[in-house]
Amino acid sequence: MQKIKKIFKYFKYKIFAKYRKGYGVHSPFLYHFVRENLYGNRYFYAFDDIAELRYDLLCSDEKISVTDFGVGSEKMKDNIRKVRDIAKYSAVSEKFGEMLFKTVEYYKPKTILELGTSLGIGTLYLALPDSKATIYTIEGCPETAKKASDNFKELNVKNIKQLIGNINDKLPELLNGIDKLDFVYFDGNHRKDATLNYFYQCLTKAHNDTIFYFDDIHLSEGMEEAWKEIKKNEKVTLTVDLFFSGIVFFRKELSKEDFTVNF
Ligand SMILES: C[S@@+](CC[C@H](N)C(=O)[O-])C[C@H]1O[C@@H](n2cnc3c(N)ncnc32)[C@H](O)[C@@H]1O
Repeated sequence: MQKIKKIFKYFKYKIFAKYRKGYGVHSPFLYHFVRENLYGNRYFYAFDDIAELRYDLLCSDEKISVTDFGVGSEKMKDNIRKVRDIAKYSAVSEKFGEMLFKTVEYYKPKTILELGTSLGIGTLYLALPDSKATIYTIEGCPETAKKASDNFKELNVKNIKQLIGNINDKLPELLNGIDKLDFVYFDGNHRKDATLNYFYQCLTKAHNDTIFYFDDIHLSEGMEEAWKEIKKNEKVTLTVDLFFSGIVFFRKELSKEDFTVNF
């Protein structure tokens, strides 16, 4: 039933969402965001490196024992999972990964946090645009985190700091030790309470130019409620709903508006 509802919502989004390629957008900020990061055809060699790595993972027969702290997976019920299935069902897609890369390359955040590393595909899209940025990434499952670490080594990426443990414990520890967050990718534990808890914690380190990126905002009723509450927060100005994810800006120079952009 949940799945049928989501398919219905997706069709509704595809029919009614506007601003494809930036057409009709009045906000200059949003126009540039859409043109450059959603529909811009900027190409980077790193896209091929990540695509090759993903291909290798999708061909892997290796099995690992997974400890799941989140809502789990609809597709993978067993705790012994094939790496290829994790790559297929948990990793960010190429389309959204490249959009993340372009967004990071465009706004140049220096302190980046990812909640939920999985195999590290999303982490690489965040880390490869700028070797001087620091990417903190938290993963609860030790065996999955080990695979991610191997992937970072394979691509010789040095600006990633992995934290292994429950986000509930690791996030407050990390926030205690850093001054600010420039970009946060919320992609672990897709429950309403957890999402809001992580949002309010990260908000304490957000500033005018910070960007928050939430995955799976329409996954469930709970996630819909969390997204609504986030949009309403007084510090939040412009938000962009891309159906599979939502982007939040805090820039005071922007008016408080919520956009749904066809992507
Ligand atoms: C959807 S996957 C992340 C995908 C990755 N961000 C990407 O873009 O490729 C979610 C990951 O979050 C981890 N996770 C979920 N809840 C967690 C929690 N409470 N603490 C730590 N890790 C958690 C899961 O083990 C899983 O590997």
